Amino acid sequence: MNSRMNSTILKTEEAFDLYAAERILSQMRSKPDAVIGLSTGRTTGAMHRLVAGAWQACPFDLSALTFFGLDEVVGVSPEYSGACVAMLRREIFGPLGLDESRFLMLPTASDDYPAACLAFRKELARRGGIDLLVLGLGENGHLGFNQPGSSFGSRARVAEMDPALEARIRRETGTPPDVFLGGVTLGLADIMEARSLLLVAKGPAKAEIVHAMLKGPVTEAVPASILQRHPHCDFLFDTQAAALL
Ligand code: GLP
Repeated sequence: MNSRMNSTILKTEEAFDLYAAERILSQMRSKPDAVIGLSTGRTTGAMHRLVAGAWQACPFDLSALTFFGLDEVVGVSPEYSGACVAMLRREIFGPLGLDESRFLMLPTASDDYPAACLAFRKELARRGGIDLLVLGLGENGHLGFNQPGSSFGSRARVAEMDPALEARIRRETGTPPDVFLGGVTLGLADIMEARSLLLVAKGPAKAEIVHAMLKGPVTEAVPASILQRHPHCDFLFDTQAAALL
């Protein structure tokens, strides 16, 4: 483990969510034109709502800020409740009253994904590059939709999603098996270009992969192990996720 890596282990879910929310808020306050990436899922919803609540209690100017989503589900409607854009609108963009120009998302549908991915990366760069990217962690070590085996040199692209998530989305949306469902995601090389990263993981189901990510070899078989090489990556765990460290 790289000596510059910093792990914080908190005892309660409340403390975990507050710590992460404070990290996002402090980035928002310290750089009015910051570019901040968010991940969706069970781990991050509460921290997004805390950010919005804290801002509503004590509002400040958000007109130069950019939020973006790390990844998106492809093949669903953007209104589908499990689409990343729908989740982030509900959890944080809506409550912050953000103007549409202040958040960037990869598309749920496109007739040219490579062009859409390139445009997304160019727009992030045009706005100054990523200041902070909050990352969830898949139980198999995935980051975004970068599943095990993804190249460390990968860039934004459409990728397969893991079979359990795909099955759930098919069920919830009634999408037939012959219609492609996948994920569009920033690649691992894009993620590594962020100036700072915050990896968040909680719960007992993440304990083994947290151990592999930090203590195991840096390998494409565990995409999140690449974070050992990032100069400014902080890790936030609850005691259950950190149980094997
Ligand atoms: C999903 C998303 C990721 C997310 C991860 C963890 O597959 N594509 O962006 O970070 O899973 O999700 P959870 O926090 O629900 O465990």
